[in-house]
Amino acid sequence: MSICKPCILVIHGPNLNLLGTREPNVYGAMTLADINQNLTKQAAEFGVEVDFIQTNHEGVMIDCIHQAAGKYSCIIINPAAFSHYSIAVRDALAAISVPAVEVHMSNIHAREKFRHRSVISPVVRGQIVGFGADSYFLALQYAVKLIAKEEATIE
Ligand code: DQA
Repeated sequence: MSICKPCILVIHGPNLNLLGTREPNVYGAMTLADINQNLTKQAAEFGVEVDFIQTNHEGVMIDCIHQAAGKYSCIIINPAAFSHYSIAVRDALAAISVPAVEVHMSNIHAREKFRHRSVISPVVRGQIVGFGADSYFLALQYAVKLIAKEEATIE
């Protein structure tokens, strides 16, 4: 049985710091701080902890993914534009054994063609797209389930 509360790392990619004012017709009116606050509240109700990072830099995202190994039970990641081309972020997620859930607020499949493909998807447990801020909350629910399942396997 684990002694510490399981902890989930939420990684927000480039331009997500601008949520609230960035294309609100696509991404909604909630700011990143609002989303993180709600996630913290929901995580507490689920009995887990969440840490957050937002970065506009590919290398920083990769370093965070590396550092998550052995420290976090699960990663929730919105790689934002990196989803569509960053083999380096994909390889970082593939290199660690921490399970990850990919999130997109918008329905990337209903947008421009260049957004339809995510190079990240093959190395994560699943992808949640198109539900606005709720994509994160749905990912949290799944992450909690996943952690419980993996803990049950270890015990
Ligand atoms: C996004 C979708 C990406 O295509 C875009 O580059 C983003 C946000 C989303 O959450 O819908 O920055 O990941």
